Parts: sequence; structure tokens; C-alpha cells
Amino acid sequence: MPKPTAFELPLKDSTPALFRPARSNDLERIKQGFELMSPESRYLRFFAPVQRLPEDSLRQLQTIDQRSHVAWGAIDLSAPQVPGIGLARFQQLEQSGIAEMSFVVIDAYQRRGVWTVLLGILYLEAAVRGICTLRANILPENRVPISKPRELGALVSDKGGTYQVDLIVQKDLSLLPQASFVQTFRQTIKKIRGRLCPQEVV
Ligand SMILES: CC(C)(COP(=O)(O)OP(=O)(O)OC[C@H]1O[C@@H](n2cnc3c(N)ncnc32)[C@H](O)[C@@H]1OP(=O)(O)O)[C@@H](O)C(=O)NCCC(=O)NCCS
Repeated sequence: MPKPTAFELPLKDSTPALFRPARSNDLERIKQGFELMSPESRYLRFFAPVQRLPEDSLRQLQTIDQRSHVAWGAIDLSAPQVPGIGLARFQQLEQSGIAEMSFVVIDAYQRRGVWTVLLGILYLEAAVRGICTLRANILPENRVPISKPRELGALVSDKGGTYQVDLIVQKDLSLLPQASFVQTFRQTIKKIRGRLCPQEVV
């Protein structure tokens, strides 16, 4: 398994950003990042109006091993006072070829392409591990993380209260459907692929 490497990539608005695997000592940084999330983002991420990082999330964050539980974060290199701007992770489900993913970008940095890069990283990290499906559970009103994966060919099913979004990990990106987000996603993968697992996704 190639060792994941940190890399710098400017955001859409040219903000210099560092993307790197999360480390065990990032917990404090993640807690501080949570404080910068709006009530709406907290609700969309945790499905409840939480005031602090939920205990089960804290416990899960402690199991990140970059093998079956992979997590990457993003940092604004021009704003050292900001603990982190986004976090995305997946956890492999037992022997199913499926991994459950979650992601968040703090409000002040949304719509600058952070998630697109983090999703690209998870996609490549999944491909290298033989994971076929990245699964996210999303509230129905949370349009973007449903519609954008759907453009990438994700299967969306109503689970009563949440939508299950199953993003199939294609090793050949030319198999992705024709859709505008696919172009962006392909370009993003092209930028980051060489740093992660060049042989796995073409
Ligand atoms: C969903 C979320 C991760 C998106 O992060 P982001 O960094 O803003 O997303 P990006 O900037 O990479 O945008 C990706 C695409 O979605 C579009 N988009 C993002 N936010 C949008 C919004 N509020 N309205 C319309 N389009 C939006 C972008 O335009 C882009 O599409 P394009 O490339 O075709 O133009 C972020 O809004 C978030 O953290 N929400 C709260 C947590 C959450 O919902 N997590 C999901 C449950 S695990």
C-alpha cells in the first residue's frame, strides 16, 4: 500500500491549502473546527442540532488508522489561526467492499472546491484498497451531497428519514456518465492522482 502523502493545492479562489492525512493528535484541531461550523452545517452533518462534537464521533475519530479507517483534512496555509477547513473520512464495512464516508467543510470555506478535492482523495484511497462503493447517509434536504455524487453515477435510495448515497468507485473514469460535475471531478482527480496511487485510477 503506498504511503499517503500530504500535498498543497490552491482552492478555487486561489487560497493556498494543504491536504493531508489526519493524525491521531488532530483531535483538538477537529474539536476547534467543529466550533466554526454553523448550526445548519452541524445539523446536516450529525442529523441533530448538536452543540458539541458527539461522543460517538469522538470515539470513531480515535480509530483512524489510514488503513480501514481513512481520513484526510484540509488546512488554509494563509490562515494559521484556522484549525482546519474540512475533513473527510471513510470506514470499511466488514468484508463487503463498501466503506461508509462522511465529510464536512466549515462554512467560511464552502463553495471553494474543498469537498471536491477531499472526495477525490477518498475515491482514490478507496480504489487502492479495492473498495467498490463509498456510501454516505445524507438528509433528504441536503441537496449537494446527493446531487453531485448522483452526477458521478451514485445510486441513491430512500431509507426513510435519510438517503443512502452509494458512489461506485470506477477505476476507469471514462466510464463515468456525461455530467458537468464529472468534468470537474475528473480534472480534480488528474491534479491529485500522481500523489496518491497513480496506477489505480485512469
Ligand atoms: C456538502 C459540503 C461538504 C460541500 O462542501 P464544499 O467544499 O462547499 O463543496 P465544493 O465547493 O467542492 O462544491 C462541490 C460542488 O457542489 C456545488 N455546491 C456546493 N455548495 C453548494 C450550495 N450551497 N448550493 C449549490 N451548489 C453548491 C459547487 O458549486 C460544486 O459544483 P460544481 O463543481 O458543479 O460547480 C459542505 O456544504 C458541508 O460541509 N456541509 C455540511 C456537512 C454535510 O452536509 N455533510 C454531509 C453529510 S456527511
